[in-house]
Order: sequence, then C-alpha cells, then structure tokens
Amino acid sequence: MVNSWQNMHLERKRHVLVDNIIRVDRAGELAANWIYSGQHAVLGSDVKMGSLIQNMWEQEKKHLSVMDKLQLQYRVRPTALSDVAKGVSFALGVSTALMGNEAAMACTEAVETVIGEHYDDQLKELESVTGDDEIEDLKRIIAEFRDDELEHLDTAVEHHSQRAPAHALLSAVIGKGCEVAIDLCKRV
Ligand SMILES: [Fe+2]
Ligand SMILES: [Fe+2]
Repeated sequence: MVNSWQNMHLERKRHVLVDNIIRVDRAGELAANWIYSGQHAVLGSDVKMGSLIQNMWEQEKKHLSVMDKLQLQYRVRPTALSDVAKGVSFALGVSTALMGNEAAMACTEAVETVIGEHYDDQLKELESVTGDDEIEDLKRIIAEFRDDELEHLDTAVEHHSQRAPAHALLSAVIGKGCEVAIDLCKRV
C-alpha cells in the first residue's frame, strides 16, 4: 500500500518535472528563433553577419522542432506567453541589430549564456532521476542543445560582442530579462 502510494507520488513528481522542463524549453527555443529572425531582418543582407546569424538560426529551428515534438508526445500545455515571447524576442533581435553588429552579438552572448546555464541546471536537476528511458532521452537532448547554445555564445564572442557599446549594461539587462522570462514560462 505504502509502496504503491510512493510510486504514484514519484510518478506525479516526474510528470510535473518533465512537463515544466518541456514547457520552458520550448518557450526558450521559440524566443531564440524570433530573436535570430529579428536580427536577420536587419542584418540579413550583410554578407558576413547574414550567414552567421542564418547558421545559428537554422540550429534554433531544429531545436524548436524537437521541442514541438516533445510537447506533443508528452501532451504539455504550452505557455500562455507564447505570443508575448515572440513579439518581445523579435523586438530584441531587431533593436540590438539596429545598434550594430557588435550589439547584435552582445545580445546573442547574453542570451546564450543564460540559456546554456539554464540547460545545465536542468541536467543537474535530472541527474538523480535514473533508470527511465524517457528521462535519459530528454537528458541527451538537453545536453546536445546546451552544447549548441554554448557554441553560439563562443561565436558571438569571436565576433566581438564584447566591443559593443555599453556591453556590460546591455548584457546585464538582456540576461536579467531572460532569467525573468524563464521563471515566468515555468509557471504561466
Ligand atoms: Fe536553441
Ligand atoms: Fe542558441
């Protein structure tokens, strides 16, 4: 009796955990797509920046399609903030790109730093959950995405994100915005 109650309790906990992870990660990938789309709308015709942004955007499209599949597979309720996230992210992409190449890269650096850490935190959270094939799949996906995001971070730094005007302020504001967004999408 106690055991079956414990099992039910564990199963419920696991369900809530997976649900929250997929909801927030899908929202994050959606936001990333719109940021790159905004940057591309402004800098797409620039030979160097255009292809750089396009390449990262292509990876975000793959990330989003994986998250879309997981959302369906696990019947996860999408965040109610999807439309807001799209608009805010597109505006962030456009406005940083209008400030110049380096500010666009500073935006990427700030966003990918927070997302990389966020994926890392999730992996730590899932570390103790073992012996479950679905969770193992999820861990593999998150680890792969984390590595891609950290690659985007490196690309941004290589392309002089840190030379952006008011780099420290820009990073702090965008980074804080991402943290708030992550927190909101877990709950709403
Ligand atoms: Fe991504
Ligand atoms: Fe990324």
